[in-house]
Amino acid sequence: VSGQTASAAAAIPAGGGILPRHVAIIMDGNGRWAKKRHLPRFAGHRAGVEAVRKVSRAARALGIEALTLYAFSSENWRRPESEVSDLMGLLRLFIRTDIDEMVRDNVRLRVIGDYRRFPADLITMIDNALARTANNDGPILVIALNYGAQAEIAAVARQLAVQAKDGTLDPATIDEAMIDRELQTNDLPPLDLMIRTSGEVRLSNFLLWQAAYAELLFVDTLWPDFDGEALAEAVSIFGQRQRRYGGL
Ligand code: IPE
Ligand code: IPE
Ligand code: MG
Repeated sequence: VSGQTASAAAAIPAGGGILPRHVAIIMDGNGRWAKKRHLPRFAGHRAGVEAVRKVSRAARALGIEALTLYAFSSENWRRPESEVSDLMGLLRLFIRTDIDEMVRDNVRLRVIGDYRRFPADLITMIDNALARTANNDGPILVIALNYGAQAEIAAVARQLAVQAKDGTLDPATIDEAMIDRELQTNDLPPLDLMIRTSGEVRLSNFLLWQAAYAELLFVDTLWPDFDGEALAEAVSIFGQRQRRYGGL
């Protein structure tokens, strides 16, 4: 851990820019990356997993406390069944090949989203992986699986409505902080930087509440080409942004 602190200090961008505590990435462009190479979409997703590996290692080396990666949205079920199952297969492969490194590197793996809708064997794999890193206290890697921000917020509303109905919650006390505490991101640092690759300029239902005052960065790089250097560049751009939160 002390080694991490040293490398984080060394990685603070020139010019004294500060490091984002929590970075989220909409990993987009795998299909277009494959198409450019006349390869099947699967090859793009496979290359995307390699980028996940590189970028999550780089985030740790930079000293970023939490990295949240959008791997499967609640809308991605609309893709052909074969592609959905390819994505599930790659998730299995990623857990199998990378969990030992995460345990060793003191990474805390987290999941947001309703992954209980995934195939039973995958749910078991995910639960085992989460359990294996649960006692770690280092950097947090959050994978968003079957995640949708509107569904997340609706779930909070439902949950608070139940408490109000049974008399354990006074609706007048519901405020932003209470909603924050009910979200699946409640134990993560505030979202500082949201990156989307591939040139698309939209949030696609990702962390809508949490992004209220995040800095947004849209880059043209396709996800499989995004790497540690690209992350360092994003962090350095973040360091030059002036955050005003409505003030002066
Ligand atoms: C992102 O790449 C990966 C997932 C959404 C799982 P895409 O598959 O969306 O790639 P494009 O947008 O078709 O290029
Ligand atoms: C967003 O990418 C979801 C993930 C990266 C997992 P999409 O490619 O699914 O988003 P849209 O359909 O272009 O909005
Ligand atoms: Mg896409």
